[in-house]
Amino acid sequence: MDSGKIFRIGFLGMGTVAQGVWKHLQANREIMRQRLGGEIELAKACVRDISKRRAVEIPESKLTQDPYEIINDPSIDIVCELMGGTGKALELTLAALRAGKVVVSANKAVICSHGAEIFAEARKCGGAYFFEASVAGGIPIIKVLREGLIANRFSLIYGILNGTCNYILTRMERENATYETILKDARRLGYVEADESLDIDGWDAAHKIAILAYLAHGCWIGTDKMLVTGIRGIRLEDMIWARDFNCRVKLIAAIRKLENGALFASVYPALLPLTDVVANVNEVYNAVSLNGDVVGRTVHIGRGAGQDATASAVIADISDALKYLLGAPAQMSVADLAEPRMATLDEVDGDFYLRFEVEDKAGVLATIASVLAKEDISIKLLHQRKHDSSGKAWIVMTTHKTTEGAIKKACQSLSSLPVVSSEPFVIRIFDSQV
Ligand SMILES: NC(=O)c1ccc[n+]([C@@H]2O[C@H](COP(=O)([O-])OP(=O)(O)OC[C@H]3O[C@@H](n4cnc5c(N)ncnc54)[C@H](OP(=O)(O)O)[C@@H]3O)[C@@H](O)[C@H]2O)c1
Repeated sequence: MDSGKIFRIGFLGMGTVAQGVWKHLQANREIMRQRLGGEIELAKACVRDISKRRAVEIPESKLTQDPYEIINDPSIDIVCELMGGTGKALELTLAALRAGKVVVSANKAVICSHGAEIFAEARKCGGAYFFEASVAGGIPIIKVLREGLIANRFSLIYGILNGTCNYILTRMERENATYETILKDARRLGYVEADESLDIDGWDAAHKIAILAYLAHGCWIGTDKMLVTGIRGIRLEDMIWARDFNCRVKLIAAIRKLENGALFASVYPALLPLTDVVANVNEVYNAVSLNGDVVGRTVHIGRGAGQDATASAVIADISDALKYLLGAPAQMSVADLAEPRMATLDEVDGDFYLRFEVEDKAGVLATIASVLAKEDISIKLLHQRKHDSSGKAWIVMTTHKTTEGAIKKACQSLSSLPVVSSEPFVIRIFDSQV
């Protein structure tokens, strides 16, 4: 490699992640020059507000509010899209690819909703698009899937893909604190996205599992085709009662290939046995468990977000971008499939944990049992826990194997019973068998 070559890089966005990238490229200039086989020069960064104070020093002459000053500059080799969002980010990514740039991105939202278009454009333009930082922050999971485990087919990929939810659940359990208390703290510490629903309601994890599903199965699965439930309904009691089952509650994102070939993509709070290494991944850490038919199971753990972990992944992509510019092939291509067949809720089964509030009086349990029996659901364990003097009690139960469809119908019927005073909250008992 020609170690004297200078590569010019333009940043779309100079926020948390981009500043981390630039900070580490500067701090490790010499070692980066040796490892990357060339020098990286910051050509320009596009921001909304040029006068904003930033943690890294960037001369004002290198800042612009016009992204096309970067895209249309023929001297710029690499464009890093680190602005986020899906509208402008998509427009600029496509424009950069059409202008012959190599694009690096951490933007899972735009990849999940427009990945097919972006990848097609990259192919059409003979360009390259790198996106390691879009899933699981510092864990190089995209490289693992594309390169390290290229020999494998994946029947099950699951894990913790949202650090904010994991932080909230960890602290609730450790401190016996309510969801609301810890959420407030997470907001204060800046751990929650501006659009809170992305984290709390599972959408961020859904974007990431869509990307892993694409790499593993060659098809784009929209979030509308997934079962997505966040952690909003979790109560401290669930964390405590989970221990009775030797489990811990985690927000689990998964893509499973059923034996009949259908795919099932989901994000939901799940009970994981404490013997599963993923159940012991806490705080802001992420974990990804991959079941490959050749390698068996591998588990990857690391910081799922934050400036430095994400910068580490973006810099790895910049390194690949340099190699590509120096003549290496872009990346392993994914074998694109036509429309995948998604599993219906009646095809997906498992054990479930249900929690709901009832009138504490005679005959209630019999009524509940008959509703469940109608859907052919059999109860494995049932606890009744009186929680205050209001004459109400919590019912906590686990079921034997049944389908998602049956549980959905049973919960609808239970909600409509006059003796049931809270909507049943469902936590799946995660089945990591393949
Ligand atoms: N933060 C993380 O831990 C993390 C982890 C993994 C992936 N990501 C992804 O990385 C990307 C960047 O995240 P971030 O946390 O660095 O975001 P951020 O701190 O909000 O920074 C966004 C940057 O983009 C600029 N920007 C936004 N809209 C713009 C527009 N229309 N025109 C020009 N500039 C615009 C902002 O300019 P101003 O500075 O002037 O406001 C800012 O510099 C996102 O896609 C995010 O999902 C982030």
